[in-house]
Amino acid sequence: MLNQPKKVKEPLYTKLSIRNPKIVDILNTTAELGLFDDTSLSKFKYKSTDYESEAIKYCSIDFFKNTILSDPKTYGRQLQEGWTGGGPIKHKKNGFASSTPGGQYFIKSFEEITGIDLGDGSQPYGGFRSSVYNPDGFLSWHKDDGYGVYTIMLSYCVEEPDGFYRWMDNDTKEIHTEPDMPGWSGKSMVMIDEESSEWHTARSNTQKCSLVISFGDYDKFLKLKDLIQSDK
Ligand SMILES: [Fe+2]
Repeated sequence: MLNQPKKVKEPLYTKLSIRNPKIVDILNTTAELGLFDDTSLSKFKYKSTDYESEAIKYCSIDFFKNTILSDPKTYGRQLQEGWTGGGPIKHKKNGFASSTPGGQYFIKSFEEITGIDLGDGSQPYGGFRSSVYNPDGFLSWHKDDGYGVYTIMLSYCVEEPDGFYRWMDNDTKEIHTEPDMPGWSGKSMVMIDEESSEWHTARSNTQKCSLVISFGDYDKFLKLKDLIQSDK
């Protein structure tokens, strides 16, 4: 009997190990040039008197199981067809990095590597996105099933980070919590549709910056994902 290769299903979440020397260089230079500026601290998504307790509550497993999952069609979703809410509750700033020296260098470098104009807006929700978390920063449970993209997220954390990324595995329904690590870390996430996307949340009590490259094209996504993890 022929030993036929199995068709491998792209995992919805992959923790990336950043091995490629050129990518490591780019990321180190990005951090050296600077990702945090005055504006990254100034604009928060909403005003609250108690960010800390809200950050704990809205990213908790209890809140997910008892509140979100009891009404998943109307709570915590983004971009679902016909949905008119304001998105998940968040305390962070989006879109800041393209104005920082590190962010600009990052965009230019990854445009060269991928051959994609990350800022051209040619695919909805595709290209480059960024967000920054400061103490009591969080993004509550949500699904990004309306984006229709494959994403690679590279995150930079301070020396002693206090935060996590938490998600529910679609197949096993198990909830995982990945603690933030100092320096750079990477993950890929599939956000194609209802079936091929996962519920997730993130919290950071220390400065953290996430830079996201989104692809409409699976092969281009896979090429960058492989490159990041290859030693050459
Ligand atoms: Fe998300």
